[in-house]
Amino acid sequence: EKTIGQIQHCLNFTNLSYSVPEEMRPGAVVGNIATDLGLELGQLFNRKARIDTDKSYQNYCDIDLKTGNLIIRQRIDREELCGEKVSCMLKFELVLESPLELHRIALIIQDVNDNSPVFPKDVMKLEIRESADKGARYRVNEAHDVDTGQNAVQQYILQKNEHFVLSVRDDGGSKNVELVLDKELDREKEKEFNFVLTAVDGGNPQRSGTALIHVTVLDANDNAPVFDKAVYKASLPENSAPDTVVLTVSATDADEGVNGEVTYEFSRISERAKWCFSLNSETGEIKVIGQLDYETDSKYEMRIDAKDGYGLSSYSKLMIDITDINDNAPVIYMKSLMNPIPENLSPGTEAGIINVQDRDSENNGQVRCSIQRGVPFKLVPSIKNYYSLVTTEQLDRELVSDYNITITATDEGSPPLSSSKTVQLSVADINDNPPVFEEQSYSAYVTENNKPGSTLCAVTARDPDWRQNGTVIYSLLPGEVNGAPVSSYLSVNGDTGVIHAVRSFDYEQFRSFKVHVMARDNGSPPLSSNVTVSVFVSDVNDNSPQILYPTPEGNSFMTELVPKAAHGGSLVSKVIAVDADSGQNAWLSYQIVKSTDPGLFTIGLHSGEIRTQRDISESDNMKQNLIVSVKDNGQPPLSATCAMYLLISDNLAEVPELKDISYSENNSKLTSYLIIALVSVSTIFLTFIIITLGVRFCRRRKLLFDGAVAIPSAYLPPNYADVDGTGTLRSTYNYDAYLTTGSRTSDFKFVSSYNDNTLPAGETNILQFIYVFFWIKNRPFFISDKKQNKTVSVESVQF
Ligand SMILES: *[C@@H]1O[C@H](CO)[C@@H](O)[C@H](O)[C@H]1NC(C)=O
Ligand SMILES: *[C@@H]1O[C@H](CO)[C@@H](O)[C@H](O)[C@H]1NC(C)=O
Ligand SMILES: *[C@@H]1O[C@H](CO)[C@@H](O)[C@H](O)[C@H]1NC(C)=O
Repeated sequence: EKTIGQIQHCLNFTNLSYSVPEEMRPGAVVGNIATDLGLELGQLFNRKARIDTDKSYQNYCDIDLKTGNLIIRQRIDREELCGEKVSCMLKFELVLESPLELHRIALIIQDVNDNSPVFPKDVMKLEIRESADKGARYRVNEAHDVDTGQNAVQQYILQKNEHFVLSVRDDGGSKNVELVLDKELDREKEKEFNFVLTAVDGGNPQRSGTALIHVTVLDANDNAPVFDKAVYKASLPENSAPDTVVLTVSATDADEGVNGEVTYEFSRISERAKWCFSLNSETGEIKVIGQLDYETDSKYEMRIDAKDGYGLSSYSKLMIDITDINDNAPVIYMKSLMNPIPENLSPGTEAGIINVQDRDSENNGQVRCSIQRGVPFKLVPSIKNYYSLVTTEQLDRELVSDYNITITATDEGSPPLSSSKTVQLSVADINDNPPVFEEQSYSAYVTENNKPGSTLCAVTARDPDWRQNGTVIYSLLPGEVNGAPVSSYLSVNGDTGVIHAVRSFDYEQFRSFKVHVMARDNGSPPLSSNVTVSVFVSDVNDNSPQILYPTPEGNSFMTELVPKAAHGGSLVSKVIAVDADSGQNAWLSYQIVKSTDPGLFTIGLHSGEIRTQRDISESDNMKQNLIVSVKDNGQPPLSATCAMYLLISDNLAEVPELKDISYSENNSKLTSYLIIALVSVSTIFLTFIIITLGVRFCRRRKLLFDGAVAIPSAYLPPNYADVDGTGTLRSTYNYDAYLTTGSRTSDFKFVSSYNDNTLPAGETNILQFIYVFFWIKNRPFFISDKKQNKTVSVESVQF
């Protein structure tokens, strides 16, 4: 599979082999690993290069990360390490991390001639009958040198003497050293004598060992003991209990008496074997006396001598094979581990390397490794006893922040042995979660005229990441509300997400607006999200009704003419008022609070329409004054009042009496004169206009006046009564006008322009007068709003 391929690529094996003589001083340089592997020096340090080996070899070698040299740490004695083995090799593994690499290093320890040949005994005693013939052979023990190869025993030298010469025969790996009688002995001449046998090795410098051979000349001893087997072989399991009998050797001597008494002894035996086996010198029984360990030594080879009472001897070989027992459980080594492990690793990433060792051999040393279920990791077998710990899925610290991974290794022995190791692995955070607001959007409700600084609402976002990656900071996203930056309306507390008003809001200015609040975490790079906060300003009854008609100035001359013939229920006039608030706060109701003749007129509670309550009679006062109060439905309600002057008359001739009305109201003669003056001026002015318009229309040969309300647009406030070129009221305006009379919310723009464009008092008076003139001329006149199927009188629309 893909992952295995990756790992094999990582576990790039190189075999390095170095050869060094034993007994090097600590600190001696074996070779340069960096150069030999083609690595830069810095890499060794960065990739945590280290030497990995069996515990027993641990102290022999090390790597100097500064220079890349493989150096000796401890004196190596080849003989101690490898005994008599011909080749002595230490195996190491060099581990490099990121990417993981493993290199084998073999250190071949060469023999140095540091041991001299040694004879088993310093003095060898021979007892030889004087009757012995020339050519008789007498075996002597060979010398032994623990060094190997050239450094082992190469040659024997016999001290010059009268009787013996040396014969050395190669006897399958070992040497058979014999003294050959060259000149007969004569006990009477020489009863005993000594000479020296020297063994020399082939090393440089040469080393030697000697033994003294002591010959006693006897009367007779014909036969040497003879073993029943040339080679004894035994096989026994390791961990055999002490006192277990391995086997019994036996040799017979044909001689009688002392000459036939056979004793046994080890003639050539390794130090280790000496600790493990004993030989009963009389019975030839070989027993286990020490701990046998297959893993240390699996084979023993020794030579046993059998000797009779007078020193004639022969030898036999004993070979003991130790068989393996499953006595070593596998051992798990964590060779490398990425800990903590970042959560954004893609599945299949190698998180660690595991090595399993079992010192047993064959099946007893075959190990299978497994990992517990339920963790997103698996073991992928790699070379030899190595496994890669590989992630199987994407980790998420926000779900599981650490794992206890238990690895179990079981060998295939019977019964199998197993061991396990638990690794604690923590997952490192990555800033992979943006803050998320708890709600899709937020709404804040505030009543207008709030205090600056008051709290509107709070937003909350959560970020499950760790520490600063999960710390949320709130801020307003730049934007505009009504052309001003949002920051002049709202502020957000960066830590708590609480939103405050920066200023007081006016419902009449805006009823709602939207801002965007961003939540950002403190990671690098930071992640953010934003949410819409809608602020709804609710109305407070802070605007009193505005009376548009009749104009609120108390000294108005505006007068409505009521025909004498008006029947009960006829529409006489209408009070028009608006309220800048909305809803209940703008729900207006009209009431007559005072009137000249309380029974004559009524006002529609919500329409403001003034109607006659009964037929007009001759006896009714010609001048009727009404005080109308307009009240909204707010809590508490606000109100405004206006006065309305009505004149019951059919006749324009009666109009001059107007002055009396005003006179009675306003007790100033000056005002009357002023009225007369204004009427004159206005009449002249109007005449002028009519002439001008007449001329114009004649030129165009078009007459558009047709009973319509002819109010020159110049006389009207700009946005108030919109009159087009023909002097006809636009239907849109009709509709607006209707709205103001009802209880529905008024058009805000309309009101504001009214406020802004209030005419100077004098001018208004002129207009009012002109208005009356036209009203009389064209009466009765209504504008019909077809949509609403209602009628609105012209006069109530105009002002
Ligand atoms: C892992 O083991 C440690 C101690 O052995 C324990 O405190 C911790 O809770 C364990 N964690 C899990 C995820 O089981
Ligand atoms: C936050 O995330 C970044 C990567 O996005 C990581 O490097 C850092 O260690 C994280 N911080 C903490 C406190 O875990
Ligand atoms: C706000 O969030 C939306 C999606 O939720 C995103 O498209 C937009 O870019 C964000 N705006 C800012 C300024 O981050």
